[in-house]
Formats: sequence, structure tokens, C-alpha cells
Amino acid sequence: MKAILSLAMAATLTATAAPATAQFAKAEDAVRYRQGALAVLAQHFTRIGAMVRGRTPYDPRVAVENAEMVATMARLPWPAFGPETEKISHSVKPEAWSEPARFREQHEKLAAESVKLVAAARTNNLDNLKAAFASTASTCKSCHDAYRTN
Ligand code: HEC
Repeated sequence: MKAILSLAMAATLTATAAPATAQFAKAEDAVRYRQGALAVLAQHFTRIGAMVRGRTPYDPRVAVENAEMVATMARLPWPAFGPETEKISHSVKPEAWSEPARFREQHEKLAAESVKLVAAARTNNLDNLKAAFASTASTCKSCHDAYRTN
């Protein structure tokens, strides 16, 4: 939990500067980093999902906060998919490395949709949020279908 919190704080501090190249001492560190980032991303995305599905009351301010976290976190995992991690990546299909351009396209789509999610949240309109949530969720699913094993 502590690691996840400091990861989230680091992400907030570096929101404008996602790392272009990964610098990890060990391949295991890279895997932990990207899984942590994806877990934080999913937490904030799920909170928006709960509002969209009517499981929690719609609060426009909370929606914006969570959308901003999603947009920040959406930039972090990908440099941690370095080739040195392939052998220890049990939840990732080998195609993530054999089709790097298609894999990159998938995470660029997520990045673009999550920026639109922030814009939709800022309109304070639940229907806009619902539509942007669905488009963003489809980028998660399409990448998981292609590149995740579970
Ligand atoms: C570009 C591809 C891609 C996109 C887009 C993507 N994911 Fe994933 N996701 C993966 C891969 C690959 C893994 C497995 C990573 C690993 O185990 O190292 C993963 C793992 C996860 C995990 C498990 C993390 C853990 O604890 O190990 C969660 C949760 C998750 N993704 C949520 C999401 C959500 C929510 C979205 C959309 C908002 C999303 N992902 C978008 C590729 C993607």
C-alpha cells in the first residue's frame, strides 16, 4: 500500500514528464512498477465506473479528480515493458514484444481516450462522462484481449 501511495504521488509530481526511457536496476523492478501503475490506474478508473453505473452517487468533482489520475497513470506503465522483462512476464503475451508498433498504438489510444475522459468529466455532465468512460474502457479491453494472458 505504501509503495502504491508513493507511486501515485510520484506520478502526480511527474504528470508532465512521463519517462521516455526506462531506468530500472532489475527486470523484476520494472514488472513491479508497471503492475503497480496499472493497479493504481484501475482503482481510479473503477471509481468513475461506479458513478457511471449508478453504484455510487455522481459527484462531478470526484469524477474530474479520478479522470486526471487515470490520464496521468495511463502514461506510466509502458516504458517498463522493456525486452529484459519478457522472460519473467507471465501475464503478458509474447506479441507485446514481437509487435511493438501495434502494442504502442494500443497504449497511445488509451492515453488519447483518457485525455478525452478528463475533458468529459470537466463538462460536469454524466452522459458525457458515460460515453468517454465507455470509449476508454474499450481501449483497456482491446489491449488485454491482444496482449494479456489472464
Ligand atoms: C497497451 C495495452 C494495455 C492497455 C491499453 C491497458 N492494459 Fe491493463 N494490462 C496490460 C498488460 C500487458 C498487463 C499485464 C502486465 C504485467 O503483468 O506485467 C495489464 C495488467 C493490468 C492489470 C493488473 C495489474 C496487476 O496488479 O498486476 C490491471 C488492473 C489493468 N491492466 C487494468 C487496466 C485498465 C483499467 C485499463 C484501461 C483504463 C488498462 N489496463 C489498459 C495491457 C494494457
